[in-house]
Amino acid sequence: MTTHKLLLLAGDGIGPEAMAEVKKLIAVMNKTGSVTFETEEALVGGCAYDAHGAAIAEADVARAMAADAVLFGAVGGPKWDGVPYEVRPEAGLLRLRKDMDLFANLRPAICYPALASSSSLKQEVIEGLDILILRELTGGVYFGEPKTITDLGNGQKRAIDTQVYDTFEIERIAGVAFELARTRKNHVTSMEKRNVMKSGVLWNEVVTATHKARYSDVKLDHMLADAGGMQLVRWPKQFDVIVCDNLFGDMLSDVAAMLTGSLGMLPSASLGAPDPKTGKRKALYEPVHGSAPDIAGKGIANPIAMIASFAMCLRYSFEMTAEADRLETAIAAVLEDGLRTGDIMSDGMRQVGTTEMGEAIIAKYQAAA
Ligand code: NAD
Ligand code: IPM
Ligand code: MN
Repeated sequence: MTTHKLLLLAGDGIGPEAMAEVKKLIAVMNKTGSVTFETEEALVGGCAYDAHGAAIAEADVARAMAADAVLFGAVGGPKWDGVPYEVRPEAGLLRLRKDMDLFANLRPAICYPALASSSSLKQEVIEGLDILILRELTGGVYFGEPKTITDLGNGQKRAIDTQVYDTFEIERIAGVAFELARTRKNHVTSMEKRNVMKSGVLWNEVVTATHKARYSDVKLDHMLADAGGMQLVRWPKQFDVIVCDNLFGDMLSDVAAMLTGSLGMLPSASLGAPDPKTGKRKALYEPVHGSAPDIAGKGIANPIAMIASFAMCLRYSFEMTAEADRLETAIAAVLEDGLRTGDIMSDGMRQVGTTEMGEAIIAKYQAAA
């Protein structure tokens, strides 16, 4: 029987609460499915800092590199507000993205039919929504050097962050965007700010050249990222695949999350390039949301983003398409049944906690076997 090695990094806040539901699902799949998942667990984020003074231990970075896939919960929280910048909880996640070279971050925003009326936007705006934000994840202002705060000695300080993109980084993320578009509605919208940023000029140039050279069958539009944010709220169904840099992708995907009803609904996949020998990609799967300190420990977090991230893992790392479809169908079915965590609650629905939502999805998944 095939064995897949998973590293589970639950992290802080609601991370472990959401991950607990995925662990139950993995246990069920191990009993009944045709593959075995071998899981290891490790600390990341604030809990790792508390345990060994770093946001992730070196040995655990190595375990992440060796795993077939990493499942990641969330990191951060007010408890670690005062820790040195280099070892803040978020540094653990950024380290993994960089070391594993996970340059392509897929953030699909899908409006489940049962939630069409629970968004803060009008039903007709989001009904049937199915878009994909493709965020470049290992470059840009997140990692560019210099990144400093300097004391100017006159009572002033100067903070510098640097946005850097090389041609190859834009080319490879554009390639992923066009490839994904071909499996969807064949439409890519590239967002940057070429009117202000040199990196935006290069971004636009390289996306255009990549399109012309290899993907002229795909429809390509360009949009300034600020206008793109507005269009995302005005009429999101005009988009299919949106491709953008690391920072714009971070912000636009939180906006997109609210189109689906809640941040608690949005999964993501962070993928590296396929290994030339084995064809395998390094991959990490995580919800788009954070550790939600305001609701952590209460058992009320929505586990759907985490469970749907595991569905993406089945699809993209293990080609378990039937199982991924079945899991996504189970999520939709539980929502159809009227179960809601607090973040997506509306009149006439039944409010449940994290565990009940997770277990209801697992039960539907099993029932569909
Ligand atoms: P957040 O995503 O944690 O929370 C924003 C709001 O959404 C909160 O009101 C929260 O209760 C709600 N929310 C988020 N996920 C939810 C879920 N699954 N179910 C129900 N409600 C949910 O963002 P924040 O408050 O800006 O950040 C908190 C901490 O998380 C910060 O330290 C931040 O750096 C970190 N963070 C981590 C990740 C990650 O680990 N990938 C992502 C984003 C933020
Ligand atoms: C995300 C988060 C991270 C980011 C933080 C926690 C470093 O907001 O994954 O969206 O900014 O990329
Ligand atoms: Mn974010």
